[in-house]
Amino acid sequence: MNKITVAMASDHAGFALKEELKAELAELGLDCLDLGTDSLESVDYPDFGRAVADALVGGRADRGVLVCGTGIGISIAANRVSGIRAAVCQDATTARLAREHNDANVLALGARIVGAEIAKDCLRAFMSTPFDGGERHLRRVVKLG
Ligand code: RB5
Repeated sequence: MNKITVAMASDHAGFALKEELKAELAELGLDCLDLGTDSLESVDYPDFGRAVADALVGGRADRGVLVCGTGIGISIAANRVSGIRAAVCQDATTARLAREHNDANVLALGARIVGAEIAKDCLRAFMSTPFDGGERHLRRVVKLG
């Protein structure tokens, strides 16, 4: 895999897990573009989902990682941007299949749902799995727009 840049962001609920995942990204030898948040102070998850989505469509990053309390709100925000396929994952299997079948470009995690070790499993699976590229998967991903 070529070296890629991963844009990361979270709200306050995901801040601690984002920091742990940044260290894991460094272990994997991947570059990180941290777009906040920077503390436990309450913030609005749509702002951070949007920031990662914009970084991807603007070519500043190749993949994204988003963390909020559930992974849901921040993924909805990212998915409102054309070209973004953000997948909320709960384990390495959903993270792998999000890449293989959906060509997901953003991994979304819920810090109140999964523990740090499972989140790291998700991150490793997501970053190391290529899109399957099979005709049926490609057709469906194209239909996502
Ligand atoms: C913040 O309390 C929480 O609503 C947010 O992190 C997220 O879970 C929303 O989907």
